Amino acid sequence: MDFLKVTELNLDSFSAIVRNGVKTKKNPAYLGTPLKGKHIGIFFEKPSTRTRISFEVAIHHLGGEVIHLNANELQISRGESIEDTAKVLSRYLDGLVIRTNSHKFLEDFARFADVPVINALSDLYHPCQSLADFMTIYEASGRLNNLKICYSGDGDNNVAHSLILASGITKNEIIVASPSGYAPSEEIIREARNLGGKVTLENKLDGSCLDVDATYTDVWISMGKEKESSIRKKKLKPFQLNSEYLEKCVKKPIIMHCLPANKGQEITEDLFNSPYSRVIDQAENRLHTQKALLHYLYSQYKR
Ligand code: CP
Ligand code: NVA
Repeated sequence: MDFLKVTELNLDSFSAIVRNGVKTKKNPAYLGTPLKGKHIGIFFEKPSTRTRISFEVAIHHLGGEVIHLNANELQISRGESIEDTAKVLSRYLDGLVIRTNSHKFLEDFARFADVPVINALSDLYHPCQSLADFMTIYEASGRLNNLKICYSGDGDNNVAHSLILASGITKNEIIVASPSGYAPSEEIIREARNLGGKVTLENKLDGSCLDVDATYTDVWISMGKEKESSIRKKKLKPFQLNSEYLEKCVKKPIIMHCLPANKGQEITEDLFNSPYSRVIDQAENRLHTQKALLHYLYSQYKR
């Protein structure tokens, strides 16, 4: 089984992974060593602080070995096909964790690989992030249902897409506040609604965004979007999370961010450091939910 998109999980498996994340946070040995004797390749084409390091530690905790793959050192950099690379690496490795620009690359790789392939972020999705996001909300609220989540900013990015789909799987309500041109794709909205989620679009960080359990933002300029920097800063400015927003909230939401943050852009420094902020816990939870994810994937996978 691969994990390219969060919708590869259903409500039961998603909830079980989040709950196992909480358990392994309390007791790091809780999930045992299901990766004993297994070698997992880590292939990142983009920078990463949280995802790569938390995966490496997670694999070690579960008894596995990490093998680093550098694109420039593989024959793929000289034109060897994805098909041959995926087939050959599957003979050595027991799984791959891949961060790439193109989701299509990931899909092609997974199609030809005989071992689990995990999406560590693509242009379209960041499914591992959404597991940690829901664990963080669960820790704060004690539940995985009857939640109202607001996402403010670039609604058309990987993190927003996965959060929306995860809200669909858990049948929660998500309000996406974004300017025109930065709303989530209609296909993702439709998919989340079909799963049972309630998705509302707003063009202001106001109204229904003021009565939520959690408010989330991500960078305005995702990796690869640097050329659009000035237009994005201008358009997205009204969607900044700041103390003015928090003061208007009917009840105080927890403040979330996948990180890295550009303080002064999508979130102010004071809100980032406020008692409502859960951003560092959220980053920590990447480790626990990825351990739970690996445990789940490898309980299904027999070589
Ligand atoms: N949130 C996240 O994926 O962070 P990194 O880019 O540091 O992995
Ligand atoms: N949307 C951001 C997430 C980084 C973890 C990006 O793709 O750069």
